[in-house]
Amino acid sequence: MTYVRNAWYVASWSQDLEPGTPSAITILNEPIVIWRSESGALNALEDRCVHRLAPLSLGRCEGERLRCMYHGLLFDPDGKVVEIPGQDMIPERACVRRYAVSERHSWIWVWMGDAEKADPDLIPQAYGFDNPDYLLAKGQLDYAAEACLVNNNLLDFSHLAYVHEKSFKAPQNFAYERPKITTLPRGVRVDQWVRNRPGPGWARNGGLFDGLSSYEFLIPGVLVMWMGSFPLGTAEACGSEQPDYAEAVSGVTVTSQAVTPMTERTARYFFSAGPHRAHGDDAARDSMMQTIHQAFAEDKVMIEAQQRVIDTTPDPRIMPTTADKGVTIFNQLVQKLAGAAPARSHAA
Ligand code: FES
Ligand SMILES: [Fe+2]
Repeated sequence: MTYVRNAWYVASWSQDLEPGTPSAITILNEPIVIWRSESGALNALEDRCVHRLAPLSLGRCEGERLRCMYHGLLFDPDGKVVEIPGQDMIPERACVRRYAVSERHSWIWVWMGDAEKADPDLIPQAYGFDNPDYLLAKGQLDYAAEACLVNNNLLDFSHLAYVHEKSFKAPQNFAYERPKITTLPRGVRVDQWVRNRPGPGWARNGGLFDGLSSYEFLIPGVLVMWMGSFPLGTAEACGSEQPDYAEAVSGVTVTSQAVTPMTERTARYFFSAGPHRAHGDDAARDSMMQTIHQAFAEDKVMIEAQQRVIDTTPDPRIMPTTADKGVTIFNQLVQKLAGAAPARSHAA
């Protein structure tokens, strides 16, 4: 698997990380333990004790430190062993890897490159639960498939017309009209107008609109999308420019999604979504989330089946179509940035 190491990967929802309770996740084949110390500090270490390789995520938080609960070695948040019960001498090598970790937009992010190079400015700007304008709900899903296949799916919405026929009831336009793709320094932006269509089922206003979905898909695999319905004629009037978002009259919704590669063939998918307070209420949000869960289950069936076919194909080759433009640009960017920061041998 080729992934960019110098990037922030979503490891958990903020809400799911209880103070004093270590949590385990594998990212790029590396087991990681994350915890909030007594003072509230966030820490991330290699989840593998130097003594006999027991997971530190089964350990106990003690003040700012974490104790392995197999034979009691005590670790500082920087990864160094500071106590070996019954032994005074602590070997130089008694140390596990420390990861840079950050909390923003309701996610806990782990930097998979050198901790010293961690750049908080590279954390994608998602919509968190602290955003007062939106009524969000969250979910997550584990994939028995490589994260790259999930990324590819999120970069090409032509599948909406087929995979999500039942859930999103997306119009055929998604398959027949190509969105505008803009290359960004660390990803792509995808803008797609669908003219003359009803607003989403949960929205308060009936009638026909020009609907826009506009999202950024950013390294390492984070989607941040805004959707809204505008008066008829807006798409035409805007040409290829962005509309004035304040002129949306119905169905304004956001969603943030992150795909985290765990192992060669597993990925964790974190997502939140919800309407703008002026465009929906809790009931609208719940109904939207129900549809999203149905839709993401549809993606999972298709992508895991695709993975099984790939794995049993001796020389798997693909044949891109024009709908793959965003996929191709993004995957080339991954190759370039991964090359600039070579993958460690065990997570190539
Ligand atoms: S394995 Fe951690 S103390 Fe023995
Ligand atoms: Fe999908």
